Amino acid sequence: MCSGILFVHIIPGEWSPAVDHAIWAEGLVKRFGETTALNGVDLAVRTGSVFGLLGPNGAGKTTAVRILATLLRMDEGRATVGGYDVATQAHQVRQLIGLTGQYASVDETLTGVENLLLIGRLLGMPKREAKARARELLADFGLTESGGRAAKTYSGGMRRRLDLAASLVGRPRILYLDEPTTGLDPRARLELWDLLRDLVARGVTILLTTQYLDEADALADEIAVIDHGRVIANGTPDELKAKTGAQTLAVRPADGAGLPVVQRVVTELTGMEPEVQGSLVTAPVTEPSVLSAAVRRLDKAGVLLAELQLRSSSLDEVFLSLTGRPAEEAPATESEEVSA
Ligand SMILES: Nc1ncnc2c1ncn2[C@@H]1O[C@H](COP(=O)(O)OP(=O)(O)OP(=O)(O)O)[C@@H](O)[C@H]1O
Ligand SMILES: [Mg+2]
Repeated sequence: MCSGILFVHIIPGEWSPAVDHAIWAEGLVKRFGETTALNGVDLAVRTGSVFGLLGPNGAGKTTAVRILATLLRMDEGRATVGGYDVATQAHQVRQLIGLTGQYASVDETLTGVENLLLIGRLLGMPKREAKARARELLADFGLTESGGRAAKTYSGGMRRRLDLAASLVGRPRILYLDEPTTGLDPRARLELWDLLRDLVARGVTILLTTQYLDEADALADEIAVIDHGRVIANGTPDELKAKTGAQTLAVRPADGAGLPVVQRVVTELTGMEPEVQGSLVTAPVTEPSVLSAAVRRLDKAGVLLAELQLRSSSLDEVFLSLTGRPAEEAPATESEEVSA
C-alpha cells in the first residue's frame, strides 16, 4: 500500500510538472489594480532543497509565496505544490505546506504553549498529541523555559522562533518562509539558519524569501533573483556569484585628488566600470588577488588611502551588476506593465 504524501499528480495529456519538484510554477501573473506584482514568474523548487527568492522591497516575493500557499489567486499562469494544482486542489496543497509569514502571526495574548496547542487542535490533533507536539517544538526551538509566558513578552528573535515552530506543528513537507530573519540580531539570525538546516536534513523542502544575498548564499541550493515581478537571474549561489562578482572591492582615497587614479586602477584590475559614490569607488570582483594588486598599484602611484577592503557583495551590488541600476530605484515603466 502507498502511504505518506503523494508528490506527483499528473493529468494525462496536460501540463505535467517534473516529478522531483516540490514546487513548480509557470508564468505567474498577479495584478493589484495598476500594479503588476508578478509579471510572468517561473519557479522550480526541487524536493528536499532550499530555494531562495531574493529581491528588494516590492519585488513580488510575498505575492509569490501567498499564491503558492493558496492564500491569493493568480491572474495568469499555473503552479503545482507537491504535484497538486494550487488553483484547483488548494485543500490538498494546504495539507502539505507550512507558512511563516513576513510578520509575526502568533497570538500575542496566548503563551508559547497555548499558541502551539491551539494550532495542533485546529489541525485536528487529539489533545495529548497536540500537547506532546507543542512540548517537542518548544524544546527544538529553545523556548521550553519561556513556553508558559505570553508571546507579547517575547523578544523579536523568540517570536520569530515561535512563529517558525507554529508553522511546523503539522509536520509540513514543504515550508514557506517569508523573510524569516528580517529584524533579528546577527546571533539570532545564525541560530535560525541552523534550525532551518536541521529541517532540511530531515527532508523538508524550503522556499525562502529574503532581501539578503548572504542569507540566500548561506542557505539556498538555488536562487531566483526577482525584481518588479520578474525573475532576472537564477541558478546556484556559485553560478549567481560568478555572474555578478562574489565580492566587492571598495577603495576610498584619503584625498579627492587621488580619485581619478583609484578609478583607473580599479577599472583595470576588475575589468568593470566602477561605481563612484562621493570618494568611494566600488566594483564587483571574482578574484580575491585584486586586493593585493590594488595595494601595490596604488602605493606605486603614491595614492594615500582612507579605506581599502574586499567585502561580500550586498544585494544592492548584485542588483547593480545584473540590472545596471540600484535595487531601490523606482521603476520607470511600471504603468506600462499594466495590461490594457
Ligand atoms: N494586497 C495588495 N494590494 C495592492 N498592492 C499590493 C498588494 N500586495 C502587494 N501589492 C504590491 O505588489 C508589489 C509586490 O509586493 P510584495 O509584497 O509581493 O513584495 P515583496 O517582494 O514581498 O516586498 P517586501 O520585501 O517589502 O516584503 C508591490 O508593489 C506592492 O505594493
Ligand atoms: Mg514581502
